[in-house]
Amino acid sequence: MKNYLIAPSILSADFARLGEDTAKVLAAGADVVHFDVMDNHYVPNLTMGPMFCKALRDYGITAPIDVHLMVTPVDELIPAFAKAGANNISIHPESTIHLDRSLQLIRDNGCTAGIVFNPATPLSYLDYVMDKVDLILLMSVNPGFGGQSFIRSTLDKLKQVRKLIDQSGRDIRLEVDGGVKAENIAEIAAAGADMFVAGSAIFGHDYKQVIDKMRAELRS
Ligand code: DX5
Ligand code: ZN
Repeated sequence: MKNYLIAPSILSADFARLGEDTAKVLAAGADVVHFDVMDNHYVPNLTMGPMFCKALRDYGITAPIDVHLMVTPVDELIPAFAKAGANNISIHPESTIHLDRSLQLIRDNGCTAGIVFNPATPLSYLDYVMDKVDLILLMSVNPGFGGQSFIRSTLDKLKQVRKLIDQSGRDIRLEVDGGVKAENIAEIAAAGADMFVAGSAIFGHDYKQVIDKMRAELRS
């Protein structure tokens, strides 16, 4: 079986008990913590900064932290999140004037680098930076909020990106974010994704039951 990763988005966790809730979802079988950073500028919502990431590390969270930056400008936050304990940092190409430089900055700070495509963002941004990315994240909702419905045109886009990754011969993760649940995860995996962000489908439910169901769907 493929090495699939399940990455709960702690945007839907209990913010008043963030450490505890994050530990709980990891104990229930999650692989990676997906950490959504929103600035009320690039997206119309406001969430967590690097201090929250460091607080999770200080609390004892050792799992990989996958930081999804929905902010502009991005460059100042890259070293700050690397220092705060991030493992991967993903950025939206429209949020930086110098994409190549920002991706390089992520690696220079010791993290893996991700590029994020909104539902209507063209893949052509990849043309000249494929060698600078370790992860490609396709948004299957418009970013800003949890609990939205999966946009089905993402399935075709996933297939296109899967081809590009395979052609590159590089080991690049293909992550999908937005509206992912046990009911559609198999179809999303079939289109080529190997890393799945899920917020509202996990938090507010029985974490272990949902994650087990997702893994069962990925096996079937
Ligand atoms: C949306 C965020 C997502 C969000 C996913 O802007 O990037 O990570 O938390 O939430 P669900 O799984 O509820 O669609
Ligand atoms: Zn996200």
